[in-house]
Amino acid sequence: MTEIEVQLQPRYSVQVGKDLLETVQVPHARVALLADAAVLETFAPKLAVSLERGGSSVSIHALPAGETCKTLETHARLLSSLAQERLTRDAAVVSLGGGATSDLSGYVAASYLRGIAFYAVPTTLLAMVDASVGGKTGVNLPEGKNLVGAFHQPRGVWASLDTLETLPEATFREGAAETFKHGLLANSSLCDRVLEPGFSATSANLESTVSDAIQVKADVVARDPHEAGERAHLNFGHTLAHALEAFTHHEISHGDAVGYGMHYAAILSSLAGGDDLTHLTRAFLEYQQPRVLPALTWETLEPFMARDKKADSAGVRFVLLAGLGKPKLERVPNALQLEAWRAFCADLKLESR
Ligand code: GLY
Repeated sequence: MTEIEVQLQPRYSVQVGKDLLETVQVPHARVALLADAAVLETFAPKLAVSLERGGSSVSIHALPAGETCKTLETHARLLSSLAQERLTRDAAVVSLGGGATSDLSGYVAASYLRGIAFYAVPTTLLAMVDASVGGKTGVNLPEGKNLVGAFHQPRGVWASLDTLETLPEATFREGAAETFKHGLLANSSLCDRVLEPGFSATSANLESTVSDAIQVKADVVARDPHEAGERAHLNFGHTLAHALEAFTHHEISHGDAVGYGMHYAAILSSLAGGDDLTHLTRAFLEYQQPRVLPALTWETLEPFMARDKKADSAGVRFVLLAGLGKPKLERVPNALQLEAWRAFCADLKLESR
């Protein structure tokens, strides 16, 4: 088992290893366990038993599977359930599932009674290395992804790697996008490990790979918890990704969208004068095999890009890579964004223009 400390006030730890569900206990008499429907039968009972063994009384709430749970309606329904159960300020929310479950559950914890304790038990690779660490919580609007939310740090995270072995292979590869991204930003050996033939939920080096990817995020979050600067770099590839997700009503999953978004951002970076890293982002797409994009045009995507959270009154800003491990946040002229889009479509032989 590996333990990573996130050096915030208060600090918390992320445990990475196998069979951790049996070890999860929290110092709260009441716990609302918010579980993705996909893991309700497999993992929620095991987790509830462990929490109960630790002295907590647990109520289990099923969330719609995946990104469809991240709505204001589901958020409101859960808040009402917690109120009807008369959960008090000393209660806790524990999330169990992928990134969307963690985002929504964290926001329920952040907003119920103006904030109660939150713990995360991620069951996808994507949630382990990204969503469940760092305290970004929230829901989507029809106008765009993650447009409502709050910073609310978890008090503990348990990444139980055995849960990944039950996932479809495509879900694992999808989730590898954020691990690869952390490699491009700050630890290029992560990129090598993801691109090694056979990288999967049963890889012998999975624990060290997941731990190293989490460490990249933990370091950035500790230096910049509220995204005053450096943390925005973690959004490499996410400007196009969020637009693809919103435009396709989440038919393109987050991980697949980030895979595409990183390739677009690498093309844009190189057009803006940075090193050409497109061989890496292309190799990642070959590994990931993301869902094929529907036909779409720049004109239809552009309004979604303009609502990106990194935009300010002067327009959209992109995370670019001057080179491996050298991210920067920059405004890019519209003409260059369009040129990169055309190059992206040509490279991937997309009908979209
Ligand atoms: N997912 C990017 C961040 O947590 O800042």
